[in-house]
Amino acid sequence: MISSITLVNIMVFFLLNLVWGAGTSPTGDARTKNEPRAFFVFGDSLVDNGNNNFLLTTARADSPPYGIDYVSHRPTGRFSNGRNIPDLIGEQIGVDPLLPYLDPELNGKKLLNGANFASAGIGILNDTGFQFVNIIRMPRQLAFFEAYQKRVEAIIGTKKTKKLVNEALVLVTCGGNDFVNNYYLVRNSFRSFQYKLPEYVQLLTREYQKILMRLYTLGARKVLVTATGPLGCAPSVIALRSRKGECATELQQAADLFNPQVTAMTGLLNKKLGSNVFISIEAHHIFYDFITKPKAFGNDMGCAGFEVTNKACCGQGRYNGLGLCTALSNLCPDRAKYVYWDGYHPTERANRLVVQEIFNGAKYMKPMNLSILMSMNA
Ligand SMILES: *[C@@H]1O[C@H](CO)[C@@H](O)[C@H](O)[C@H]1NC(C)=O
Ligand SMILES: *[C@@H]1O[C@H](CO)[C@@H](O)[C@H](O)[C@H]1NC(C)=O
Repeated sequence: MISSITLVNIMVFFLLNLVWGAGTSPTGDARTKNEPRAFFVFGDSLVDNGNNNFLLTTARADSPPYGIDYVSHRPTGRFSNGRNIPDLIGEQIGVDPLLPYLDPELNGKKLLNGANFASAGIGILNDTGFQFVNIIRMPRQLAFFEAYQKRVEAIIGTKKTKKLVNEALVLVTCGGNDFVNNYYLVRNSFRSFQYKLPEYVQLLTREYQKILMRLYTLGARKVLVTATGPLGCAPSVIALRSRKGECATELQQAADLFNPQVTAMTGLLNKKLGSNVFISIEAHHIFYDFITKPKAFGNDMGCAGFEVTNKACCGQGRYNGLGLCTALSNLCPDRAKYVYWDGYHPTERANRLVVQEIFNGAKYMKPMNLSILMSMNA
C-alpha cells in the first residue's frame, strides 16, 4: 500500500529533480543531466559509509548484522541496519550513492559525484576517540577534501572544479563523540578535569566554527550542519546511566547546552558572511520527538509509529545497549518499530524520518529547510 506520505515524497522527489536536474546555476550556465550536483560528507559514524573499513581500527561496522536491510543486505561500513542519512539525502537530490574517500573504486569520472570523508569515532577535538587509534580526524578529512579537489582539477580543470565545489551540497555531522567518547568516557576524564561542562561546550563550539570556516575557505557554500542527537537517550547511555530506562540527565544536559550554541554559531557565521552558507539541522530535537511522541510518526513505509525508543534493536544486556552489535547479539525482528539500531545509531526508518524533516520541516531547520535552499539556488 502506498501511503499519502510516500506519495508526497514521490512528488517532492520529482520537484527536486526538476529544480536540481534542469535549473540553471548562479553563473547562468544551463545545468544538464550530464552535469549532476556533487555531494560531500564529513563527520563521524552517523554519516560514515565505509571509510573505516580501510583502516586498522575497532570503530567499524563491516560485519553482520550491520547492513541487514541495506540494498545489498550486506554490511558496508554504515552504522545502521540499512541506509544512513547521507544515502537518503543523496537519493532525494539525485546523486549516485557516494563512495568512501578511501575506497580505491573512487577514481576518474566517479570523483565528480562527490565523496564521503566521514570516519566513525572522530569528534571535533583531536583527542576524541583516541581509543580507536587509526581514524580520520577532522583536520585529515579536510586535508583529503583539498587533495580530492586537486584530483578533480586534473580531470576538469581549476575553474570547473571550483564551480563543482561551490555548487555542491555538503553535510557535516560531529560532536557526539566529544561527549560520549571523551568528556564522559570515564569518570574524571582529562577533559572533565580540565573544563566544567559549559566551558567545554564553548570550546567545542569554537572549534566547530573553525572546521566550518575551513570548509568555507575550501569552497563549500551550501553546508548542512548537525551537532549531536539526544545523547542521554541512546540505549548505550541508558544502559549505563539510567535507572528505569528514562533518558540520562547528564548527557541530555550536555546535548541541551551544545546544540543551540551550534545553531547560534552558524547563524552568526551567516551574518558575517552575508549569505546563508550554513544550515543548522536541530537533529537533537528531531530525535527527541521520536522518543517522546513515538506514535506521532506513522504512515511512512507502511508503519504505525515507533514502538521501542529506549532499547537497541541489536545488542545485549540492559536495554540491549551494552557492548557491540555482532552476529551473536539479540536482534529484533521488526527494525521499523525501533528508533535505535545499535546502542548509539538510528535505524534506517529513523534516518528516513530525519531526512524528511531536513527537506520539508519548518521547525528544526535554521534558517530554512533543504527544499527551500535548493529552490533558491536553482
Ligand atoms: C588538531 O590538529 C590539527 C593538526 O593536525 C591542528 O591544526 C588543530 O589546531 C588541532 N585542534 C585542536 C583543537 O587542538
Ligand atoms: C520548508 O520550510 C518552509 C518554511 O519554513 C515551510 O513553509 C515549508 O512548508 C517547508 N517545506 C517545504 C516542502 O517547502
